[in-house]
Amino acid sequence: MPKMKKVRKGVIVVAGLGTRFLPATKAMPKEMLPVLDKPVVQYIVEEMVASGIKEIIFVTSSQKRAIEDHFDRDRDFEVFLKERGKFDRIKPLVDLTSDVQFFYTRQSEPLGNGHALLCAKDFIGDEPFAFSDGDSIIDAKVPVVKQLVKMFYSKKAPIIGVQRVEDKEFMTTKGNVFVEKAKEDRCYKVKKFVEKPSVKNVSPHGLIIGGMRYIFTKEIWGYLEKQKKGRGGEVWVADAANAMAKKKPFYAYEYKGEYFDTGNKTALLKATLHFAMKDEQIKKDIKPVLEMYC
Ligand code: UTP
Repeated sequence: MPKMKKVRKGVIVVAGLGTRFLPATKAMPKEMLPVLDKPVVQYIVEEMVASGIKEIIFVTSSQKRAIEDHFDRDRDFEVFLKERGKFDRIKPLVDLTSDVQFFYTRQSEPLGNGHALLCAKDFIGDEPFAFSDGDSIIDAKVPVVKQLVKMFYSKKAPIIGVQRVEDKEFMTTKGNVFVEKAKEDRCYKVKKFVEKPSVKNVSPHGLIIGGMRYIFTKEIWGYLEKQKKGRGGEVWVADAANAMAKKKPFYAYEYKGEYFDTGNKTALLKATLHFAMKDEQIKKDIKPVLEMYC
């Protein structure tokens, strides 16, 4: 059997319109909204870098230039901060950007996350790669991409990160994952994905797509190219993955970690509260405020 290529590239799609945050996102990418002191997309880059990803391509649009600036070095600003003894405030970001190379390509129209992913095809080529959207944070001891890469090397087939939930009503609002159990702990072979099924038809294993984390092989390109527009007239990664899972081995891994969507106002607030409560000082300061409102 040929040796499995290493997963060293990642794709993050950030070309969506972010209409749920208008007017905040008129001139600012929604992926740059802060969760405490870091933009959402930085959490995802940190996860990829901590998982061994060496090259990240962002699929962006003309509205998203701030993302490029954020991950670029600004030597004058660094010198300025050093002179004022404030360099430590930016050092983690400087260190992060030294560990990875960034590339950018444009999605000319927001025709869906699948269409956006396809824009990265020439950059990725034949290599296996990690894929994420730009607005889901997963707080985990072991970065989720790393957990998936490990399982990918074992199964030698595409993997999606999934979550197990009990609330069937909640499952009707999510992409459900229908599976059979694989021999490895927390691992399943995917039979199909079904978007927002009725309560009677939710996944019997209680599995949903939790955050968009995949490890794909080059085979995904053919499925994306053939994928017709789906919900909302957009091309969806999950639809292409569904077509692939019906024909080829495709696995789901129930990752260890807590997933936070940040794509709507309540979700972003929840994510912010979660990370705020990890900081003892903020926790102390915010507790009376929360008690006042709740
Ligand atoms: P969403 O489904 O949250 O859509 O995208 P959106 O356009 O960003 O936001 P709303 O619904 O208008 O508020 C999930 C991720 O997929 C990217 C987004 O940038 C986001 O990171 N995306 C979505 C694209 O890159 N291109 C698209 O055509 C659609």
